[in-house]
Amino acid sequence: MKEQSNNHNLALIDENSVFWWKAIVESINDGVLVIDHDGYVRMINPEYTRITGVTPDIIGKPLTEYRPGSQLPKTLKDRQCRVGVYRKTEDREYVVDMAPIIVNEQVIGAVSVCKSLTEVHKLSLELQKQNEKVRQLEKQMNALYKVKYTFDDIIGKDGGLKDVVYVAKRVSDSNLPILITGESGTGKELFAQAIHHNSFRGNKPFIPVNCASIPPSLLESELFGYGEGAFTNAKKGGKVGLFEMADQGTLFLDEIGDMPYDLQAKLLRVLQESKVRRVGETEERNINVRIIAATHQDLQQLVNKNRFRDDLFYRLNVICLHIAPLRERREDIPELIHSLLYSSRTLAVTNRSAYTIDKQTLEFMRSYDWPGNVRELKNVIDYATCITEGTEIKLHHLPSVITKHEMHRLDSMPKPRGQTLKDITEEAELKYIKEVLGKFGDDMEGRKKAAKSLGISLATLYNKMKKYRVHQ
Ligand SMILES: Nc1ncnc2c1ncn2[C@@H]1O[C@H](COP(=O)(O)OP(=O)(O)OP(=O)(O)O)[C@@H](O)[C@H]1O
Ligand SMILES: [Mg+2]
Repeated sequence: MKEQSNNHNLALIDENSVFWWKAIVESINDGVLVIDHDGYVRMINPEYTRITGVTPDIIGKPLTEYRPGSQLPKTLKDRQCRVGVYRKTEDREYVVDMAPIIVNEQVIGAVSVCKSLTEVHKLSLELQKQNEKVRQLEKQMNALYKVKYTFDDIIGKDGGLKDVVYVAKRVSDSNLPILITGESGTGKELFAQAIHHNSFRGNKPFIPVNCASIPPSLLESELFGYGEGAFTNAKKGGKVGLFEMADQGTLFLDEIGDMPYDLQAKLLRVLQESKVRRVGETEERNINVRIIAATHQDLQQLVNKNRFRDDLFYRLNVICLHIAPLRERREDIPELIHSLLYSSRTLAVTNRSAYTIDKQTLEFMRSYDWPGNVRELKNVIDYATCITEGTEIKLHHLPSVITKHEMHRLDSMPKPRGQTLKDITEEAELKYIKEVLGKFGDDMEGRKKAAKSLGISLATLYNKMKKYRVHQ
């Protein structure tokens, strides 16, 4: 009686199990076929039929008869699992994994599980497409953030910028941060671009960010990005920061002296750890970015006034490139003028032949102090080439704000017949220099005062004294 009831329970469990196992196998997304230890098919699921075309009437029949190429019967014998076996029939392709079914060390059957290659194919095609899209976007991004200038565009003669260009080339490929200092318009961004282009990062993005032009409250999220819901009005999905955008490339932090003090600590952390954390997120992301910073301010002074962190200053100041103002490297001026005349924007628009400049104008431009440096020189050339009707640039083609003193002086001079304007200018210049030197005294102090009163640098005064052979 007891035995009977036990058997009854077992039968119930078995029935339930079979029901469950059948339901499970039928709902599996891969094709399943099971054979018993004699090689007879015991079970297939609908997915197997869909993938291979084999219908359920194979159940109860020897597999080798219906599927002569099948390797599953071999699995019964050698007990070896087979993975990723490729099968192809007329119009179907699939891959099969096979395994023996072992109970109490006895092989009681074998199972084969297959996946349609058409689907794998579809997925891999989709993946390929997506990868292609990503590559295109990367290309567009790199093109968008490609630099315009290289070292070939930097004009610098001996005694002028040449030495700084040499150092900049040497340090291009290092990963160290670079600090570029110099007055406005001296070419800080030009150098930053050239360094990036010359480095192994040249094909990756160069991302410039002007720390002075972005409101301090926004600068952090611009640089670091933010996570979804980081604050009201935050974009859905969050925002990628400039550090992440510059990954593998260069981030150019222009006007670094204007970076808010708190943010400076975060920048230092990025420099030390090469990791960024988006605002409102806890996860840190690895980045590989080279930092080039620039400023027209004296950072050491800002450090002294507690407006710039000394630890960040020392970290940035490892390689410092100082670009002298144009008035301190007049050697560069003639070549800059000729190059700018050649590449002038007017020339590009009008398609005229290259411009030339007369000697007197060149001399004036060489002695002018150029407070706006190369940018000002460039603008003046653009103005002059636009104003002139011919192709020769003369003094009166320059903007009056820079020539007014010179023109006034020339106008008030007597103009004897037979003399050229150049003769008259030089004569007047010599006369006036002598007069001013006489007034202030021809010693060091006197010369300094004379130069100041003449509105020229001491170096220019010396050049002129040499030119006119004034007693030195
Ligand atoms: N040595 C040089 N050779 C050729 N062009 C130059 C040189 N230096 C500067 N320039 C040109 O002068 C202009 C100003 O340069 P840039 O913008 O790099 O200056 P900057 O120092 O970044 O100025 P700012 O501090 O105002 O931002 C650019 O058009 C640049 O191409
Ligand atoms: Mg700049």
